[in-house]
Amino acid sequence: MSSIQNIVSQFTADLEKTAKVADVLNLKAQALGKQGSLSEILKGLKDATPEERKTIGAEANVAKNQIEELVANKITALESAEINKSLLKDKVDFSMRDSILELGLQAAGMHPVSIVQREIEDIFLSMGFEVLDGPHIEDEWHNFEALNIPANHPARDMQDTFWFADMKHLLRTHTSTIQVRGMKTRKPPFRFVGPGKVFRCERTDASHEMCFHQLEGMMVGEDVTIGHLIYFMKTLLSEIFKKEVEVRLRPGFFPFVEPGFELDIKCLICGGKGCSVCKHVGWVELLPCGMVHPNVLKAGGIDPEKNNGFAFGLGLDRLVMMRYGIDDIRLIHSGDLRFNSQFKTF
Ligand code: PHE
Repeated sequence: MSSIQNIVSQFTADLEKTAKVADVLNLKAQALGKQGSLSEILKGLKDATPEERKTIGAEANVAKNQIEELVANKITALESAEINKSLLKDKVDFSMRDSILELGLQAAGMHPVSIVQREIEDIFLSMGFEVLDGPHIEDEWHNFEALNIPANHPARDMQDTFWFADMKHLLRTHTSTIQVRGMKTRKPPFRFVGPGKVFRCERTDASHEMCFHQLEGMMVGEDVTIGHLIYFMKTLLSEIFKKEVEVRLRPGFFPFVEPGFELDIKCLICGGKGCSVCKHVGWVELLPCGMVHPNVLKAGGIDPEKNNGFAFGLGLDRLVMMRYGIDDIRLIHSGDLRFNSQFKTF
């Protein structure tokens, strides 16, 4: 066998062993490159006879074409093997779908906020309240003006707002917007609750989140008094905690209620000793409430001379944390299955 044929058969054998495109290219350079084995033979031709030059030259040309073809084929083969490998890796077995879903549900269970929200809805439904919903994206009127918070009122700063670029729309900062929508679409007497997500542009820590949950409540009629408010709040809390909880009422300011109160409960995490949830005071602010301000009734199309009402805005996340002994509000939106799966399955 001529040395040229030797080069080709050696090349074929070596090529067989390569598994990467880079190795194939290296091998090609070793044969066809400037210092390659075939080039060395061609360089030696200067001392050969014209006859030899002709045959060896032609043979070398054939060998070069063969090698190039071998290289091209090998690279194509390696590349398609690579594609097949990744297709196989990312393959979805659709026949597995149901069991994957089942596994997911078992792992996730129901979110603790949903569990508590549904429970509270049931309590209120049993007391003759409706359950209403409302949009997350609101306008200034529903979030502020109708709630007796005019433009430039300092109370707007109490709730750091996520505004849309048009500066007219916002992410609702409280579920009190549901009060406004509820009043507009009903005639007294009525009572309803409105649970949902609310958004505030706040720094987060163990007890603050930018997105959290409230449950609004409102009752309007001819003889609604603070006595009704206290009765419903007490019934609610004893139902939720399935035991007597210690509460305290403090005066609280909210432009949409007069008088306004803050209802606190003794921290169920630390029993009043102080921890990160109660900010080391032993009490957790749970329930701002009060008698609906006449301006708010008016904005809702209700005559404040004939009717009055109470309203409250329950912080759902704090309640969930108290109930389950969760000491960091950020876990609620973590989406962590290890957290979510601890509660209840369907
Ligand atoms: N909307 C108030 C807040 O988010 C809570 C509230 C509701 C207070 C109803 C009083 C009456 O801060």
